[in-house]
Amino acid sequence: MGLPQPCRFNLCMTLLVLYFLISFLSHTRTEAVATYVHHKCPNTTTFATNSTYQSNLNNLLTYLSSNATRNIEFYNATAGNSVDTVYGLFLCRGDLPVDTCQSCIADATKDIVQRCPTERVAVGWYDECMLHYSDQYFFGSMVTDPYRILCNPQNISDQTRFDQLVRAKLSGLASGIINLSTGAKKFGTKQANFTALRIVYTLAQCTPDLSGYDCTSCLRLAKQKLPSGKRGGRVLFPSCIVRFEIYPFYLTGNTSAPPPTPVPPPPTPKGKSHISSLTIVAIVAPIIVSAVLFFMGYCFLIRRKASKTIQEENAANEISIVESLQFDFATIEAATNKFSDANKLGEGGFGQVYKGILLNGQEIAVKRLSRWSRQGAGEFKNEVVLVAKLQHRNLVRLLGFCLEGEEKILVYEFVPNKSLDYFLYEPERHGKLDWSKRYKIIGGIARGILYLHEDSRLKIIHRDLKASNVLLDENMNPKISDFGMAKIFAIDQTQANTSRVVGTFGYMSPEYVMHAQFSTKSDVYSFGILILVILCGKKNTSFYQSDGPADLLSFAWKHWEDGTLLEFLDPTLGDSYLRNEVIRCLQIGLLCVQENPVDRPTMASIVLMLNSYSITLPSPQNPAYLQTEQNMPLSINEASITEVYPR
Ligand SMILES: *[C@@H]1O[C@H](CO)[C@@H](O)[C@H](O)[C@H]1NC(C)=O
Ligand SMILES: *[C@@H]1O[C@H](CO)[C@@H](O)[C@H](O)[C@H]1NC(C)=O
Ligand SMILES: *[C@@H]1O[C@H](CO)[C@@H](O)[C@H](O)[C@H]1NC(C)=O
Ligand SMILES: *[C@@H]1O[C@H](CO)[C@@H](O)[C@H](O)[C@H]1NC(C)=O
Ligand SMILES: *[C@@H]1O[C@H](CO)[C@@H](O)[C@H](O)[C@H]1NC(C)=O
Ligand SMILES: *[C@@H]1O[C@H](CO)[C@@H](O)[C@H](O)[C@H]1NC(C)=O
Ligand SMILES: *[C@@H]1O[C@H](CO)[C@@H](O)[C@H](O)[C@H]1NC(C)=O
Ligand SMILES: *[C@@H]1O[C@H](CO)[C@@H](O)[C@H](O)[C@H]1NC(C)=O
Repeated sequence: MGLPQPCRFNLCMTLLVLYFLISFLSHTRTEAVATYVHHKCPNTTTFATNSTYQSNLNNLLTYLSSNATRNIEFYNATAGNSVDTVYGLFLCRGDLPVDTCQSCIADATKDIVQRCPTERVAVGWYDECMLHYSDQYFFGSMVTDPYRILCNPQNISDQTRFDQLVRAKLSGLASGIINLSTGAKKFGTKQANFTALRIVYTLAQCTPDLSGYDCTSCLRLAKQKLPSGKRGGRVLFPSCIVRFEIYPFYLTGNTSAPPPTPVPPPPTPKGKSHISSLTIVAIVAPIIVSAVLFFMGYCFLIRRKASKTIQEENAANEISIVESLQFDFATIEAATNKFSDANKLGEGGFGQVYKGILLNGQEIAVKRLSRWSRQGAGEFKNEVVLVAKLQHRNLVRLLGFCLEGEEKILVYEFVPNKSLDYFLYEPERHGKLDWSKRYKIIGGIARGILYLHEDSRLKIIHRDLKASNVLLDENMNPKISDFGMAKIFAIDQTQANTSRVVGTFGYMSPEYVMHAQFSTKSDVYSFGILILVILCGKKNTSFYQSDGPADLLSFAWKHWEDGTLLEFLDPTLGDSYLRNEVIRCLQIGLLCVQENPVDRPTMASIVLMLNSYSITLPSPQNPAYLQTEQNMPLSINEASITEVYPR
């Protein structure tokens, strides 16, 4: 029966929303390699500013990050002596190359002291690494508190079989680890075919200071806590981590489980470690068994109790969510100075956009939808609630809506720095976009779309990804706007007027333009165009007027083939760029615009490709060449468009 409670949909959403809120708030600093996942630092024991403990902690963090330059994925260190000793360790995800591990530790050591400024004990989990320190000696023992369970809120079909498959794979990983000695690398990944089209990816890792037995005990405990019926989840302990997803989140290829080559020789003599592991098992096993029994009983009771009220709660929650998202028309009118022209920010695909300031001083962007939507009020509200739940730091947040009479209005967070095209296409503003900013923007957009495609409860295809739909915050972090519009707008499938094209010329994939076929791979195509546009700093339509190459794609392809990268790059970049990064981006961009959607990578692999230099990318083929005349078939039958399907 696993652990259903924390993953009941409500709780799950709350956790996710909280998680994204926290990452939202805490990620205003510049982009880091360490992708924050969660942290715990109980405030029951704290230290005073400028105390010995603090200086020991600082030393410890320095030891950890400076020792990460060595060719290792795990390191433990001790700083100080007697009462104020600090013990700490880091662990990198086993598949990552040394450089990624180093940067993750460097970032994590800075990040954790901001999140836990005065706590003596802290654990920080990041996608790429984990950091743990304490005032108690914990090396070599299994630590399972504090812990965290996270899940992808989306259900999976054929849940029982899926859960069984995931658990079987994880058991396989754990049993491969049990015979490994203390000090050996304890990491493994396994993938399995769930259906013909769907592969499940699993990962398990322990800190190498554990014995093989402790590691498998830890993994077993984690496996029991894994969410059921979900398409992705992780259990984070200080001593071990398990995770599964239906997309690759580790470097696939030749990372096999578990690598037999151990890192540095175990610190303790073999015999001793064997005895101590046995002793520990003898002590720990009964504890685990009783913990599990207790846990199952607890779950059973809670479940019985909860099932009665859960539906009422759901209904009540939905109503209060709708209320909290609803704005009065008068409020909006006052905020935008009666939709004055001075407040107008622009004209979007779905109506005019105004800047507003609420009475409490909060800045908002108000989108006044044009009136051709024929959808009913109830449906509109439902869709807005769903879209408002999509929260990610690379998405513009939908704060609410207003619905009065003929008026349908959406209220968004205000993003101060205008859109990407504002900077990209104006030579005098180019200076603001040096290479590192552009690279960061590409990575952020990729993560935002990945969230829409894979990690949100709805599978959302954006359909209109382009430079003007990427807004920039005060730190030039990208935020994607206009997602979920087709859903909110309930594009009428029987509407006679099909002349309205959702999508922007130059960004639309050939299969959409020609056959009105839509999939996540059409977004990948648009993303590829975005990368190319960001690299060359030219509007893709600007090619049509010039005498030069016919279009952006042939221009990019030509320079890729000829190896004349410099001539493709935006000249205003000067030599601020890293050649490797630029080449990689160009290659990814070209892979995204392949004619056949199957040949385009998924967003998940794009995010991995952008994060790691050790993955070898496939060679792109000739990209899709679209006809570039303006009279191409633009009236597309929207009836066959499917962009959002609740899963
Ligand atoms: C510890 O945190 C809790 C909630 O996070 C808070 O209510 C409490 O005041 C904190 N205690 C101290 C000593 O800071
Ligand atoms: C800690 O030390 C710094 C510099 O030594 C000093 O500026 C600061 O006021 C001290 N803080 C406390 C709380 O003692
Ligand atoms: C690291 O941990 C081992 C036990 O696993 C311990 O013997 C060793 O002293 C620790 N190293 C440091 C520098 O604390
Ligand atoms: C590595 O850590 C040890 C303590 O574990 C410390 O003495 C040493 O200075 C560190 N190495 C570097 C390069 O800082
Ligand atoms: C997930 O599945 C459960 C039961 O199978 C169902 O009640 C729930 O509505 C589903 N949630 C979503 C988001 O599909
Ligand atoms: C672990 O070792 C035991 C005996 O030492 C052996 O029987 C067993 O097959 C081994 N397991 C694995 C997975 O190698
Ligand atoms: C998964 O399916 C692919 C092709 O359908 C096949 O090549 C591969 O061997 C299968 N993998 C496993 C582990 O069954
Ligand atoms: C992975 O493959 C690369 C070359 O493709 C090879 O150099 C490397 O040794 C392989 N690593 C492992 C662990 O097999």
